[in-house]
Amino acid sequence: MKKPEILFLKQEDVLAAGLLDMKMVLDVTEETFRLMSEDRVINPPKIKLGLPDNSNWTSFFMSMPAYVNSGVPVAGFKWAAESKQNASEGIPYGIDLVVLSDPDTVFPRAIMDGTLITAMRTSAMAGVVARRMAREDSEVACLVGAGVIGRTMIMAMREVLPNLKEIQLRDLDVKKSEALSSEPGLGVRVVPSRDLEASVREADVVVTETTSRTPFLKRAWLKNNASVIQMSSYEIEDDVLLGADRVAVDNWEQLSRGVGTLINKLFREGRLKREDVSEIHELVSGEKQGRASDDELTVSCLHGVGAIDIAVSAKIYENAVARGIGRKLNLWDNPLWV
Ligand SMILES: NC(=O)c1ccc[n+]([C@@H]2O[C@H](COP(=O)([O-])OP(=O)(O)OC[C@H]3O[C@@H](n4cnc5c(N)ncnc54)[C@H](O)[C@@H]3O)[C@@H](O)[C@H]2O)c1
Repeated sequence: MKKPEILFLKQEDVLAAGLLDMKMVLDVTEETFRLMSEDRVINPPKIKLGLPDNSNWTSFFMSMPAYVNSGVPVAGFKWAAESKQNASEGIPYGIDLVVLSDPDTVFPRAIMDGTLITAMRTSAMAGVVARRMAREDSEVACLVGAGVIGRTMIMAMREVLPNLKEIQLRDLDVKKSEALSSEPGLGVRVVPSRDLEASVREADVVVTETTSRTPFLKRAWLKNNASVIQMSSYEIEDDVLLGADRVAVDNWEQLSRGVGTLINKLFREGRLKREDVSEIHELVSGEKQGRASDDELTVSCLHGVGAIDIAVSAKIYENAVARGIGRKLNLWDNPLWV
């Protein structure tokens, strides 16, 4: 009988399989959104287990299942977790695990570290949106949050904004933004920001990727033709979104149900409707228009869809198999009962 062989990939293996190639991750992300618009992706809303509860969590786990039917169909899920305590202890704030399975036999194919897969795909999602919602002549970006996602956001923005000259990097912890800005090999000029308002006033693109639980981005600071991309739940004030000419989200169903998200709040209050927003896959397929002119203020709220994790992980698995990377494990030698 065929044994269910699992390829185990630790973080170092995932990296050796090519994860830090942002162009590749952007390509897989775009392609997965395209497959979504062809109904070749099943992506149920993620389920959150907040501890002690979803409103007052100090740590949480998210189950993110998805099926992606590209060349080789795959089913899988990401078990995404975050802990407030970690940041102060030098441990990654988010720690994720991915399981990939054969959709027909349900045999597991791989288990891998998903921590950096999350970081790369999160910023790639912002990149796919920026390609459609930001002005092509955008020269200055303000990135708020110099953590793990801030780092991959530099990689993504550098890749998708053809005229980008400078990134102003803001963090409450100035040492973090200074340290990241001074790293070699960033591929674009990155300067630490000491004044959020001043940086936002200069920026053509503003991306927020912080752990803040209170909104800090004000409409009055933004250029009227800027693009805002919010990657976490609480960072922008209501009128930033309500004052936008165009709004995009990654997954309306998930966001409109999501506890604590801005979209959910405005939807519940009757101030935002489904028809007011586009989903990324509609922008990628051309069904809906992204930015229509250089005069628009665009706002996008992205909270992560499991299908992108699964598609990127499947690519990493494919590369790992081709390069002989990883450790093989068996789920059993002989199943006791069949
Ligand atoms: N949308 C998605 O798909 C997705 C995926 C993964 C993570 N995230 C979110 O991205 C955020 C960042 O994650 P991370 O792993 O980079 O965390 P991290 O802890 O590595 O970095 C977060 C940074 O934000 C800074 N910060 C907090 N409040 C701030 C404020 N008001 N102004 C400026 N800086 C501030 C912190 O000092 C820290 O450096 C988290 O909220 C996480 O939930 C979103």
